[in-house]
Amino acid sequence: MNITIIGAGAIGLLMGAKLSSSGHTITMVTRREDQAYELQQKGIRYRSGNKEETYEVNASTSLSAQTDLVIVAVKAHAVREVISSITHTYTARMTPELLFIQNGMEHVRYLTSLVQPVSVGTVEHGAKKRNDISVLHTGEGSLKVSSYSGRSPFIEALKDSLSIEFKDNWYKLLAEKLIINCGINPLTALFQISNGELLTNPRFFGLLRELIKESSKVLDLEFEESWNRVQQVCKLTAANTSSMLADVSAGRRTEIDAISGFVLKEASFKGVDVPFTRFVFDAIKGLELMMEERM
Ligand code: PAF
Repeated sequence: MNITIIGAGAIGLLMGAKLSSSGHTITMVTRREDQAYELQQKGIRYRSGNKEETYEVNASTSLSAQTDLVIVAVKAHAVREVISSITHTYTARMTPELLFIQNGMEHVRYLTSLVQPVSVGTVEHGAKKRNDISVLHTGEGSLKVSSYSGRSPFIEALKDSLSIEFKDNWYKLLAEKLIINCGINPLTALFQISNGELLTNPRFFGLLRELIKESSKVLDLEFEESWNRVQQVCKLTAANTSSMLADVSAGRRTEIDAISGFVLKEASFKGVDVPFTRFVFDAIKGLELMMEERM
C-alpha cells in the first residue's frame, strides 16, 4: 500500500516506522526541507527498549497525488492548513482514504468539507521524538479508529500492523480521549510533572478530579467511568511526559485550544459553569504568550 503521513513529530514517526516495517511504501510529508532530506537519506530510527531499527521511507515537503491513504498526524492547530492542501492536491476523482489522529475535537468542524472517505482516530501509544528522524516508543498501546464518513478498506487492512481497534461512534471515541487530555495535559504542563505524579500528589489528584467532573458534564459522558479511565491512563503512562508538557518545554504552541478551549466553547453553549477548565486554559495561554514574547 502507498501511504502518506503528514507530520513527522513523535506520532508521525512512530506510524511511519511501524508501517514501513510491515512492508508498506511510506512517504513522510514534513514542513521543513532539511527534515525531509534527512528522512529520505537516513530513514526513521525507531527505538523500543534495547531494540533499535532503521526503516526506509520517502520524504517530501509536498503532497503527491499517488497514494492510497493519507494519515494526518500534525497538531490540531495545523489541520486547517493541511485540509486546504489536501483539497488542492486531490480532485473529487482521486479519493485516497484520510485518517486524522489529533488530540481534541476542534479539528472535526473542518472535516465536513472533504469529499474523500474520512476516519478519525485516537493514539494511545507513548512516543517521544528524539530528533528529526528518531522516535522512542515508550509505551505500547493501540490506535482506536472510527469512520467519520464513507468506507475505508485500506485502513481496515492495517488492523494488525497498527493494532487498530475499530469503534462505531466517532463522537464517543473522540470525546472519551478528549476528557483524558483535558485533565492530564494542562496539569502536567503547568506543574512540569510526569503523568503518574497526578495520582501520587493529593492536591494535583484533587485538581484532576475537578477537571474531569467539569468536562464529563460538558461532553455528556458518565463521570465515574471517565474518572476511572483517566486514572488508568495516568497509571499506564506514569513515566510519560505529556504532549503538552513536551510542547511547553520546547517553547512550542500547545493544543490547549483544541482541548480545554473546545470544552469551554461547548460549556458556554450549554450554559455549564467550568471554573477549573477556565483557569487551566488561561494559565496555558498565558505561558504561550510569555514564550512568544521571549522569542
Ligand atoms: O497528549 C498526550 O500526552 C497523551 O494523549 C496522553 C494520553 C495524555 C498521555 O501522555
